[in-house]
Amino acid sequence: MSTRHFLTLNDLTAGELKQLILRAGELKQMRNAGQVYEPLQNHVMAMIFEKASTRTRVSFEAGMAQLGGHAMFLSSRDTQLGRGEPVEDSARVISSMVDVVMIRTFDHATVETFARYSRVPVINALTDDYHPCQLLADMQAYHEHRGSIQGKTAVWIGDGNNMCNSYINAAALLDFRLHICCPEGFEPMQSLLEQHADRIQLFRDPREAVRGTDLIATDVWASMGQEEEAKLREKKFVGFQVSPELMDLANPDAVFLHCLPAHRGEEISEDMLDDPRSIVFDEAENRLHAQKALLEFLLVKKA
Ligand code: CP
Ligand code: NVA
Repeated sequence: MSTRHFLTLNDLTAGELKQLILRAGELKQMRNAGQVYEPLQNHVMAMIFEKASTRTRVSFEAGMAQLGGHAMFLSSRDTQLGRGEPVEDSARVISSMVDVVMIRTFDHATVETFARYSRVPVINALTDDYHPCQLLADMQAYHEHRGSIQGKTAVWIGDGNNMCNSYINAAALLDFRLHICCPEGFEPMQSLLEQHADRIQLFRDPREAVRGTDLIATDVWASMGQEEEAKLREKKFVGFQVSPELMDLANPDAVFLHCLPAHRGEEISEDMLDDPRSIVFDEAENRLHAQKALLEFLLVKKA
């Protein structure tokens, strides 16, 4: 069988994604019960970071250790990748020595090229276009607090960025509706909007967009790599802040998600993360459990 990669959520079937979310919940319970589960003994993961990270690095490194394996942190600054060694050559070399590779980079084409030349599974740990690992954690968090998301409505407020694109993929796979509320010129990928037009509604006013929704999600206004646009974006995104008052207009049992890191006073109000509707820290913890489920799915042979 050919190597399975995880470059976007679409590398999973809807059934596989649902199974993975359930499995992530089981692995969480096992860890909370102190159960040792080490199916990845003698497995090594290379983690290539061309952008900063807290959650992604800690969750993958801890997750591999907990599963009995080992993770190796490779910053592009300290490898030949950062000095221009072609991705194709790096992929052939690195994948000849490890069992799985995780990459956080800018251009989505880089992870696609790496995967093409890799003999082991490649995981996208964020590109400019997608952040599928985060969606595993988000969907696990929704599921553990509210049950199935099928038939519900989520709303994305703010920048139509990598997270928003991945929310569109999640909506299609898990069958929920998605409101997207962004300033003009900050829409998500046009091809995704067209492909999933039947379940997406575009808004410009957050107060209208949150009505009838069960999940409110947002993210920073300037993503990694957009630092120079930050000031301009602050002006463009005025009015797009998520606050408890905005959430009051959503359904009464709506929850709030943010992939973190967050900027209080910009995309969220000072008090948003402390609101009882915020499940952001469960979401963050779930990066660990969901990615362990993903690693198990990609690496452990089924009997
Ligand atoms: N949410 C997320 O990916 O966080 P890090 O950038 O800290 O990895
Ligand atoms: N959209 C953000 C997510 C960070 C986890 C970024 O790409 O920087």
